[in-house]
Amino acid sequence: MPDKPILGLDKDDRETADRLLAAFFDDYEQSIAQRPLVPEVDREVLADLLATPFPDKGIGVEGLFREINQKILPNSTTVAHPRFLAYVLGPPNGIAPYAEAIAATINQNCNFWQLSPAASVVERAVITWLCGLFGYGDQAGGILTGGGSIATLNALTTALHARRPRFREQGLQTAGSQLVVYTSAEAHRCVDKAAAILGIGLNNVRHIPTDDRYRMRVDVLEETIRADRAAGLEPFCAVATPGTVTSGSIDPIADIADVCTRQDLWLHLDGAYGALFVLSERKREAFAACARADSIALDPHKLLFAPLEAGCLLVRDRTQLAQAYAFSSSYLTVAEDPLMVDYMDYGPQLSRGFKALKVWSALQSFGVDAFRAAIDHMLDLARYMADLIEAAPDLELMAPVPLTAVCFRIKGATEADHTAVLATLIEEGTALLGPARLDGRHGIRACVTNHRTTRNDIELILTRLSDIARHHRGPVGDALEVAL
Ligand SMILES: Cc1ncc(COP(=O)(O)O)c(C=O)c1O
Repeated sequence: MPDKPILGLDKDDRETADRLLAAFFDDYEQSIAQRPLVPEVDREVLADLLATPFPDKGIGVEGLFREINQKILPNSTTVAHPRFLAYVLGPPNGIAPYAEAIAATINQNCNFWQLSPAASVVERAVITWLCGLFGYGDQAGGILTGGGSIATLNALTTALHARRPRFREQGLQTAGSQLVVYTSAEAHRCVDKAAAILGIGLNNVRHIPTDDRYRMRVDVLEETIRADRAAGLEPFCAVATPGTVTSGSIDPIADIADVCTRQDLWLHLDGAYGALFVLSERKREAFAACARADSIALDPHKLLFAPLEAGCLLVRDRTQLAQAYAFSSSYLTVAEDPLMVDYMDYGPQLSRGFKALKVWSALQSFGVDAFRAAIDHMLDLARYMADLIEAAPDLELMAPVPLTAVCFRIKGATEADHTAVLATLIEEGTALLGPARLDGRHGIRACVTNHRTTRNDIELILTRLSDIARHHRGPVGDALEVAL
């Protein structure tokens, strides 16, 4: 027997790994603001990575860190950069890498509680805290997922089982009328994707038009449901969005809940981007009706700054989740344990990692007030950005700014112009913003999902954009090229 496990590290190796990891953390933290937002991709280095043969002999700890520092890091996006304002993607909170390391060390399998007792309770504690934010009661439950898209897929699956109690045996094959899902024209594509995966079919997803603030038209929703029912179809689920991905618009949840009650539909909320704004006192009212939803998807890997991946599905009645997912013989016959949950009964996975640890650790170590402060800070920055845009003669907002997504355009610029501007901002290291598309109009989208961003960063971006826009006169393309 060797004196260390074949795949273990001896004391010297551990010391080396500790030192190199601490240096990595430290250098990274110190250099974030100076790092390129988007790497200048070294295709040769990456091709070399791809061409590396199956490594029969290892390169050791130092060799590994060298590879990471020389090849991986320089070819990675700096998501934590304070002017990374694209997508809905933020930097991880400071404790997360440590919690991740501990989760990897103890490697709990969060499938049934006997294998991972503390992990089961920690996940349940996180779910209970989150349920409490939305006014869900004792019957509620949920599960951490790989993200918001998976949470919505799992929610629609649960809704399907609730509607068709024999769905498990029969699938959709022998079902009666065609099931229809309702969402808005501004909904995230994950709703379509879930409907496609579940066999509901994209033709049976209605994208209800929005009002002038990009919120679902509730009158049209109810008319459409009635028309579908009259045509022999079976409306079964509405997906409302408290915080649409493009503009952050908040669908009128209470009114949609009324429609769902009248029309007997499952109400799911896609809160992947928006739901956790409930933490802000200022936004609480806008989310008050969430308690009426049958299920809510949200993303700790967005506003709780958990590193990818950490999504979450909450359901108002956890037995419905179990009816969709539990395959163990015991769940119907054995009384529910008041403390422990078998998470394999709440979702499609059997083996599951300890995602809850990073979410729980951050809430424990920073406290919820720190997250409230971060969210309020981001709301302030988005408002500040919107105010600066409104005051800039050559820029205009494309939509109201209820949360932290700011959609705007350079007056008179085309889609190609905006694309060129975005590329220039990246190239010169000013910012990473994204494209916006609303009502067929094109522009730029900044989404402040970054607790490191400051007012100076916002000013720097808008000063540069105003500069570009000021030069944007005469024939659009030519003038912009000169300005860039
Ligand atoms: C409203 C909305 N729904 C769903 C998603 C997808 O979430 P995930 O990337 O966690 O699957 C997003 C992502 O930004 C979103 O904004």
